[in-house]
Amino acid sequence: MRMLEKCPSGRLPNVFDGTVIEPSLPTEINAIPGGPLWAAGGMSITDEAGHPLEERNRFSLCRCGASENKPLCDGNHSRQSRRGRPMSSNSFQVGDTVEWNWGNGTGTGDIVKQFTAKVTRTLAGSEIARNATDDDPAFLIEQEDGDRFLKFQSELSRT
Ligand code: FES
Repeated sequence: MRMLEKCPSGRLPNVFDGTVIEPSLPTEINAIPGGPLWAAGGMSITDEAGHPLEERNRFSLCRCGASENKPLCDGNHSRQSRRGRPMSSNSFQVGDTVEWNWGNGTGTGDIVKQFTAKVTRTLAGSEIARNATDDDPAFLIEQEDGDRFLKFQSELSRT
């Protein structure tokens, strides 16, 4: 029964004597790092044609675009990440080579550290701060010459 309560999709509710037993959850939507959006609290959700989905206390909603059962997550996000296709969140890892817009060109470097909370570093004599979050983490990037940069994920792309 505990496993069913932890299932983010709520697809298999607890049923006892014909009564659905669901945990009381606050109404909220959160991004699961590297996975779907988790909607809880008995929201009403419709598909793209405006048809309501079955009523559930919990839904896992696809945000990678790979689900074959949209708007629901079908677990394909994990196959996507194994193929090297990035999710919209946490798509880079330490060791990845990335680039960003820099002047009229681009900068390139390797990620050496990831941050998901506010971070401050002194780089090239200037204090640089980023309010990093799970949804838009910041990365410390080092170039071949040793110069370091602090960039949001949203500023980066793969080389
Ligand atoms: S987020 Fe799970 S399949 Fe897209």
